[in-house]
Amino acid sequence: MARRVTDADLPITTARLALRRFRKDDAPSILSLYGNPEVVRYLYGEPLQRAGLRDALERRLRPPVLEAEGDILELAAELRATGQFVGALTFFHRSDAHRRGEIGYIIAPEFAGHGLATEGAAELLRMGFELLGLHRMEGQCDARNVASARVMQRIGMRREAHFHENEYVKGEWTDAFVYAMLADEWVRRGEGK
Ligand SMILES: CC(C)(COP(=O)(O)OP(=O)(O)OC[C@H]1O[C@@H](n2cnc3c(N)ncnc32)[C@H](O)[C@@H]1OP(=O)(O)O)[C@@H](O)C(=O)NCCC(=O)NCCS
Repeated sequence: MARRVTDADLPITTARLALRRFRKDDAPSILSLYGNPEVVRYLYGEPLQRAGLRDALERRLRPPVLEAEGDILELAAELRATGQFVGALTFFHRSDAHRRGEIGYIIAPEFAGHGLATEGAAELLRMGFELLGLHRMEGQCDARNVASARVMQRIGMRREAHFHENEYVKGEWTDAFVYAMLADEWVRRGEGK
């Protein structure tokens, strides 16, 4: 990676969002978000139970660092105007050799439909290409997850694959869409300035 991301880089701000470290007082928001069966419908995990909250919080309270292959940086997203927790944005550093990263996002239903995932996800692309010097950014979703696919389309990613029944999740075979963008495509679309 061209450089690493640490606590010193946070919060990362967009027009409406501050992407920051998780805090202990995010616990109720984490439970309500990841514990909602509708929200995690197309994610791998089962809804978070109260018994799992302590571990879920501890994982998120570790010092944020994006440095080596395999590192995952999950940031809490809050509204700059009000400080309200709205969800989380995740950056996966997938490969050093191939300079490849991946994005993930989750927005609480009461804040959905206002372009917040689109805004946060675009910032993750910026981070990958401009800060970390990656060559390729990817994202994937369950093919039924219309909202997630739209987010990736809106930020200019290309749909490169529709895998048919490539995973067995929550008791059924599922299709996946894979989206991607290359560094030169990021620059060409005028966002790289
Ligand atoms: C996917 C998700 C992050 C979208 O968040 P959001 O802030 O509502 O997204 P945006 O407001 O930026 O909307 C992006 C697009 O999705 C569309 N959209 C949002 N919710 C939708 C829904 N329930 N059904 C269909 N389309 C939807 C919006 O209309 C918009 O499309 P448009 O450009 O055609 O208007 C949110 O629905 C979520 O957290 N889902 C559960 C977790 C999840 O599945 N994460 C992705 C894992 S791959």
